[in-house]
Amino acid sequence: MIIRPATLLDLDAILQIENDTFDSPWTRDHFVYELQENPFSFVFIAEEKGYLVGYVDWWKTFEVGQLNNLAVVKALRGKGIGRTLLIDTLQRMIKAGCQRSVLEVRISNKPAISLYQSMGFEKSHLKKQYYENDEDAWAMIKEFE
Ligand SMILES: CC(C)(COP(=O)(O)OP(=O)(O)OC[C@H]1O[C@@H](n2cnc3c(N)ncnc32)[C@H](O)[C@@H]1OP(=O)(O)O)[C@@H](O)C(=O)NCCC(=O)NCCS
Repeated sequence: MIIRPATLLDLDAILQIENDTFDSPWTRDHFVYELQENPFSFVFIAEEKGYLVGYVDWWKTFEVGQLNNLAVVKALRGKGIGRTLLIDTLQRMIKAGCQRSVLEVRISNKPAISLYQSMGFEKSHLKKQYYENDEDAWAMIKEFE
């Protein structure tokens, strides 16, 4: 598997996963903005034998690496792709000068919370009714050494 920066050519495959995964998926325009205009955003994809199997979007705001989006093709979850992408992302954040990483995750999202905790993220506080369906979010944080 390789991990490389996403390009506009990856958008169809990214959007397929995005639409298949999230209740309020990001739109094509949103990803185009991330790829072409947002100077603080980083979008990387994991590719296996030429197929896009996962992606991640994060922002660098000063010393904080904010993880916005991490998703793996449904049929390929549970095989280590998400962890590999996250490890790669955290390394890139450190190289970019981040001192910590933050994220929000649905309190019902057990797989993601388990992944983040296993990578050293801790729950910092609850964000009440953070999502459009009123679900709460855990704000999580990982300090880099
Ligand atoms: C969260 C996600 C990215 C994890 O990717 P993945 O490739 O399936 O995860 P991995 O195989 O690398 O597993 C890494 C860890 O995640 C956790 N995990 C993964 N699947 C799990 C499941 N079904 N139940 C509980 N924990 C799970 C475990 O801690 C696992 O470590 P382990 O294998 O040592 O037990 C993936 O499930 C996904 O795309 N989910 C939908 C999108 C999403 O929720 N993104 C996060 C938004 S904040």
